[in-house]
Amino acid sequence: MKNILLVDDDREVSRSIMGLFDSGKFQFTHIEDGPSVESVLKARKNVDVLMLDVNLPSMSGLDLLKRIHKDHDKLPIIIISGDVSTENAIEAMREGAFEYLTKPFEIDRLIGAVNRACGVMRKEESATVITSQRSASPAEVSEKRQNEVSEFDEIIGRSPEIVEIAKLVGHIARTDAPTLIFGEPGTGKELIARAIHRNSSRRVAPFLTANCSSLADTLLESEIFGHEKGAFTGAYYKRLGKLEQADHGTLFFDEVADLSLMLQAKLLRSIEQSSFERVGGAEKMTSDARIIAATSKSLVHAMKEGAFRVDLFYRLKIVSIYMPPLRDRKGDVPLLTEYFLKKFALEMNRPVPTIEPEAQQILENYNWPGNVRELENNIHTALVMAKGDEIRCEDLPISTEGAVALEQDPEVFEADQIEFFQKIIEPLMPKLAASNEGNIYNSVHSAMERALISSALKLYGSNQVKTSEALGISRNTLRDRIARYNLY
Ligand SMILES: Nc1ncnc2c1ncn2[C@@H]1O[C@H](COP(=O)(O)OP(=O)(O)OP(=O)(O)O)[C@@H](O)[C@H]1O
Ligand SMILES: [Mg+2]
Repeated sequence: MKNILLVDDDREVSRSIMGLFDSGKFQFTHIEDGPSVESVLKARKNVDVLMLDVNLPSMSGLDLLKRIHKDHDKLPIIIISGDVSTENAIEAMREGAFEYLTKPFEIDRLIGAVNRACGVMRKEESATVITSQRSASPAEVSEKRQNEVSEFDEIIGRSPEIVEIAKLVGHIARTDAPTLIFGEPGTGKELIARAIHRNSSRRVAPFLTANCSSLADTLLESEIFGHEKGAFTGAYYKRLGKLEQADHGTLFFDEVADLSLMLQAKLLRSIEQSSFERVGGAEKMTSDARIIAATSKSLVHAMKEGAFRVDLFYRLKIVSIYMPPLRDRKGDVPLLTEYFLKKFALEMNRPVPTIEPEAQQILENYNWPGNVRELENNIHTALVMAKGDEIRCEDLPISTEGAVALEQDPEVFEADQIEFFQKIIEPLMPKLAASNEGNIYNSVHSAMERALISSALKLYGSNQVKTSEALGISRNTLRDRIARYNLY
């Protein structure tokens, strides 16, 4: 029999949670507010799992979590939250929650979490990620308060993807594990890196960025590792590298795929041996900087090409976080829009404008190839362009350039289509020429035909009559292509 202590003031929710579990195997104790939880835990030593609501009548479940976790560090605590701010998810995991669930529940997740909590000693489960924990010395605290949190550093989003990422941020902020963040440009990789730093005990030390794509190799080397006076022509002074400056803090390697093989080797050595030399120096230097790397290019591809070291890859990705493109979490667009409207209105010192429903619709329909950064820039432009207190369609750059025009004007669509395919094919041309010379036309043509027919079939639920009509080809031709391309 497993004993579960459930703390939630919502009786309906509590009843439905308890109803999900076999009363022969799980015994629930239900209390509706926080103050008595600690005395209940003291009186009854046999609680296996604590389920804690965030919004309790007289206190916050997150504050309670901190206190209880201190005295009962082996007790798995599942936080249940009706509020979906990512800050709560980060905080809960950072403070040692076993799991963080949002209401309304996905039943499978809830049952899964309770089962895992009952079966697994939490220390063991998290051992794969947590390498060590440290707290900042008072000297660090007083010395370097340079990473002040701005109101606009928040991770905005309610999609399950973003909530999972926020949980991971809270969890790994408790560790020093090297972390690799990958995802398309503009998805928020740097934002996440900063959030990890800000939520860790390193927050009082610097967060520094080494941009691996912006500098020539030798400059980048001295930027990261520093140099001694006279190390090269023009090195009049000794320079501390970012690795040293970020001691006890975090060093963020942005676009790490662009790091040269020489610097990859040097970075790997410095991670493995926990020491490095400044350029032109022989002394072994050490740094306790946490390393977070980000890439928008595929490192797997780079490794295949021999452009990225496999051993460094594994060193960097002790934990990895994938930032999904905005088009895969479009549910976050309205929230992000509201957030950026507020941000730029504040910057421009004017009231926060509303947005007309058609314009909102455009934002939600668009597929955001430039991800959150593109949305942010669009909102910025819209605010500059807006004449009154309302953002209208014509204020949005994308409405005039693409999405809407596409829907409304077939001629523009024609032109756009050519441009669209051109963008895809042009970069492929050299490869096609190398591998397919003499047969490029046929091979691209069939690939295109196959993709078109397969997409149309999908759109019309495999109905061949509708598909052939829509495509403007005979049913015989359609059947022939289905067979040729094996599209059954
Ligand atoms: N979930 C989010 N909530 C709020 N702001 C976000 C979010 N995701 C991204 N942003 C904002 O979008 C912009 C781009 O994010 P960021 O620079 O972190 O992305 P990136 O993946 O590093 O992009 P790039 O590859 O272009 O450098 C930033 O201004 C960031 O604050
Ligand atoms: Mg970036």
